[in-house]
Amino acid sequence: MFGAVLSTFPFISFLLPLAPSIVFQDALVTNVSDTYPYPAYDTVQTTLASPGVLRVLLNNTYSSINLFDYHLQADLANLVGTLQAPDSDVRVVVFESANPQFFIGHIDVKYFLPGYESPLPLYDPGFPDMLFPVALLWNITQLPQATIAVVEGRTRGIGNEFLMSCDMRFASLSPEVLFSQIETSLGVNPGAGGGMHLSRLIGRGRALEYILSSADVDAATAARVGWINDAFPTSEELRAHVDALAKRVALFPAAGIAATKQGINAVTLPAREVLVAEAQNIISGLIPTPVVQGAFERFTEVTGNQSIGVMELNFGREVGRLFD
Ligand SMILES: *[C@@H]1O[C@H](CO)[C@@H](O)[C@H](O)[C@H]1NC(C)=O
Ligand SMILES: *[C@@H]1O[C@H](CO)[C@@H](O)[C@H](O)[C@H]1NC(C)=O
Ligand SMILES: *[C@@H]1O[C@H](CO)[C@@H](O)[C@H](O)[C@H]1NC(C)=O
Repeated sequence: MFGAVLSTFPFISFLLPLAPSIVFQDALVTNVSDTYPYPAYDTVQTTLASPGVLRVLLNNTYSSINLFDYHLQADLANLVGTLQAPDSDVRVVVFESANPQFFIGHIDVKYFLPGYESPLPLYDPGFPDMLFPVALLWNITQLPQATIAVVEGRTRGIGNEFLMSCDMRFASLSPEVLFSQIETSLGVNPGAGGGMHLSRLIGRGRALEYILSSADVDAATAARVGWINDAFPTSEELRAHVDALAKRVALFPAAGIAATKQGINAVTLPAREVLVAEAQNIISGLIPTPVVQGAFERFTEVTGNQSIGVMELNFGREVGRLFD
């Protein structure tokens, strides 16, 4: 079961360049399975892009829209566990998507519907007050590494919350790039803190404008208002910028990266308790209501079971279909 996890961590050879690889890999299997017991689905593929820089490809082959379902969550949780380990030599993590049209689609809304089954715990074992995906994103904000997202496709709902849980975000100025918090249109709120993150990034007025309207925001607008750090005319320019930035940061001592991040986190992230009480627990209270259950059922219908099509491609434009 953990062979797939192992195969996604080729950077391990970078950590112990002198160790015979077979012996070390055997040790790693034990290590990973003892500490991070989530199933592996190979939806998160990692490579060491340059010394200290881990490239993470989000590649949910179970979904046409890179859905944030349990496959992706399990693989990301295993990755996060590895990055949290004090002996990790990774200093910068670059997240990219294998899907040219979707960075991360959104959460699997079946998560909120009766009959949903998942191998993952509902609440996180380490943070029993947090739903698993909320704890996962929180943990990403707390990683000792610098995290950078490279966006060339759509990202909505928890996909955008994932993006804002990263330290830096860059996109290409492609029409395939759209950002949105869609929750209000479904009768709920961004439950993993999307409103809290976005209001810090772009201000209260704009956060309310975009989130309340569940608008799709393009890359040029996102860069102008501060939703993302910058947007580049071409994929090549985007990648050149991120590669240079990642390599430069990865030269610097790990403790300084983590320390700088800790101070910035202290004044730019919601407190964990506030995130739980004022985002997660609010959505949890709304989900069982008939309005929201109906909205999620309708959402799976109009999106063709959350698959690629008119609705997932153009949610902001087509949102009225939820109410036809
Ligand atoms: C995504 O994963 C599948 C299955 O492992 C693989 O065939 C495909 O090449 C991957 N996509 C990219 C862009 O690497
Ligand atoms: C989050 O991190 C904590 C340790 O700080 C750990 O106990 C928990 O399992 C992690 N959860 C996920 C989903 O990464
Ligand atoms: C919906 O999609 C999931 C995979 O995302 C699949 O397992 C399920 O069978 C699909 N259901 C229908 C009704 O198409």
